[in-house]
Amino acid sequence: MNPTNVTPRIGILTISDRASSGEYEDKGGPAIRDWLTQAIKGSWEAVARVIPDDEALIETSLLGLCDIDACCLIITTGGTGPAFRDVTPDATEKVCSKMLPGFGELMRSVSLASVPTAILSRQTAGIRGRSLILNLPGKPAAIAECLHAVFPAVPYCIDLIGGAYIETHPDFCAAFRPSSALPPSNDENRARPVIF
Ligand code: MTE
Repeated sequence: MNPTNVTPRIGILTISDRASSGEYEDKGGPAIRDWLTQAIKGSWEAVARVIPDDEALIETSLLGLCDIDACCLIITTGGTGPAFRDVTPDATEKVCSKMLPGFGELMRSVSLASVPTAILSRQTAGIRGRSLILNLPGKPAAIAECLHAVFPAVPYCIDLIGGAYIETHPDFCAAFRPSSALPPSNDENRARPVIF
């Protein structure tokens, strides 16, 4: 039911000093892309970046992905912990007008079943204009675990802020929309960035 004129664009932002310097391979970004490829029905476009744990650079990258690239969803990986250089949630809060703490609460709760250090992640989510920003921890193993938990609520959240319409493969990830939620008409341009 995607509007034919809008391909959902999704930002994938790996935040890691070591991956960005080439010290090790970025595994988180590709894991997010693979998960989304299995989950999303129809075409979508990835805008992937790898940057260091620098707060100003994270903010600039998020602003670009929201306001210039018009991504309806931006998923970050890394930099959510307590270490000095872990500043992803702080940068996320700075660029968002509204926070959605339930995303972080659910991801930590689900992750606790596999690792007691899940409580060390400050991962959160928030809204900037027509974009939803979602933080994931840096461990590649955390990616599927966290996305399976929260992604069922993501397409309707994006509907509510006027982003692109996303449909999922229900066998892999069953997105929930209330029965009152109507699919958008094809002539609606829902992917415009909002500058504020
Ligand atoms: N969540 C899941 N699902 N799996 C994990 O391995 N690692 C934890 C936590 N959350 C982890 C997890 C650890 S050890 C840390 S330090 C924090 O995420 C922060 O990780 P980050 O700074 O790489 O984002």
